[in-house]
Amino acid sequence: MVEAIVSTKDSRFKVHDSRTGAKLQNLGEVEGKVAERRVTGIGELDRVLGGGLVPGEVVLLIGEPGIGKSTLLTQLALRITNTVYVCGEESPSQVKLRVERMSSLHTRYAMDSLKMLAETDVDAVIGTIEKVELSLLIVDSVQTLFTSQLPGLAGSISQIRECTARLINYAKARNVPVLLVGHVTKEGEMAGPKVLEHMVDAVLELTGDRYYDLRLLRTQKNRFGATDEVGVFRMGESGMEEVNNPSEVFLSEREEGAVGSAIAVVMEGTRPVLVEVQALVVDSELPVPRRVATGIDVRRVQILLGVLQKYTRLSIGTKDVFVKVAGGITVKEPAVDLAITLAVASSASGKPLPKTAAAVGEVGLLGEVRSVNFMEKRVKEATKLGYTTVYSRDNYRKVSELVKILKR
Ligand code: TYD
Ligand code: MG
Repeated sequence: MVEAIVSTKDSRFKVHDSRTGAKLQNLGEVEGKVAERRVTGIGELDRVLGGGLVPGEVVLLIGEPGIGKSTLLTQLALRITNTVYVCGEESPSQVKLRVERMSSLHTRYAMDSLKMLAETDVDAVIGTIEKVELSLLIVDSVQTLFTSQLPGLAGSISQIRECTARLINYAKARNVPVLLVGHVTKEGEMAGPKVLEHMVDAVLELTGDRYYDLRLLRTQKNRFGATDEVGVFRMGESGMEEVNNPSEVFLSEREEGAVGSAIAVVMEGTRPVLVEVQALVVDSELPVPRRVATGIDVRRVQILLGVLQKYTRLSIGTKDVFVKVAGGITVKEPAVDLAITLAVASSASGKPLPKTAAAVGEVGLLGEVRSVNFMEKRVKEATKLGYTTVYSRDNYRKVSELVKILKR
């Protein structure tokens, strides 16, 4: 049972004060302004937001602890004048230490225009910021907020929901964009209610592997933009750095002409990205050989092994097969099939693929290479990075034909 506030007399930001009757409106009469966006200056963030922050927009940024949410938002706060940063999680001095760690030339000036608010009572927060001219409100994190009008600890479902509702009312009434930080558990669930995701305008998720410095910012929902955009960052010594050309990062440690390596071009949002698929095929000592995949669904690998077994002369039935996407990224797209197949075939046969070759395509159960979307974009990106041959449905119809190139 979750207690909630039905209606309060002092909820100061009700859009309609006198609800004697709601007004019916013709859609034609509805004012339909194209919202003017505010570019944040962090290109990868703007990309994910759909071109900048919309006035009155409420964005929820979720991610595991330690992934870099506070770092990213501190950087954002330093770029936009008249920002208030509500720090419920850390003390203002901790935030200052972080800023000093990220120090660059502009921070001295920027630090003076960034206002910290160490307060977790949501009504006190709104009461305070109402008096100041504001262009952005950051709340780190929504789980630390509470209202004294409800019982229960900060972080409980009813508290989170009510505090968010009040902040949304504030944002809409004052046309100030609000960024909320939310924690997620290891399983990727928002710690607290799922219901928040329905209340806010956009949900961004910061993901990454703790042991790699790469961070991906994805949209789960966006009322003001596309949901398939991905921002790529690196957690560096001085904060989150934008990665404008992800392919170069993924391929930076690639050994050219190595056996068991194939390049795939996958789509991250609307952007083609080159990744390296690595395979290792070795004799198994187990009655049931191992099939291990990192960054790819292992079932997908098993299907492709079946296809190789049936339609080529490679015998992998008694081998252990390990497949991995280098760089700590996860690929879900079927377009990576062909690269997986070729990487495995390369390792099994001990022959490398041509140095300048990439592969794009889904592989069907009949051993056929299937076409995928955005082919032109993918080929262009591959060519740009020196991969002038792209194997796909356009030049090979069957996996068996393609595997023969390893014989040469
Ligand atoms: P943080 O933004 O505090 O994570 P979150 O708010 O999502 O919990 O990031 C914390 C981690 O980032 C911490 O392990 C230290 C690391 N870090 C860097 O590597 N470089 C930096 O410049 C900063 C500020 C933090
Ligand atoms: Mg934090």
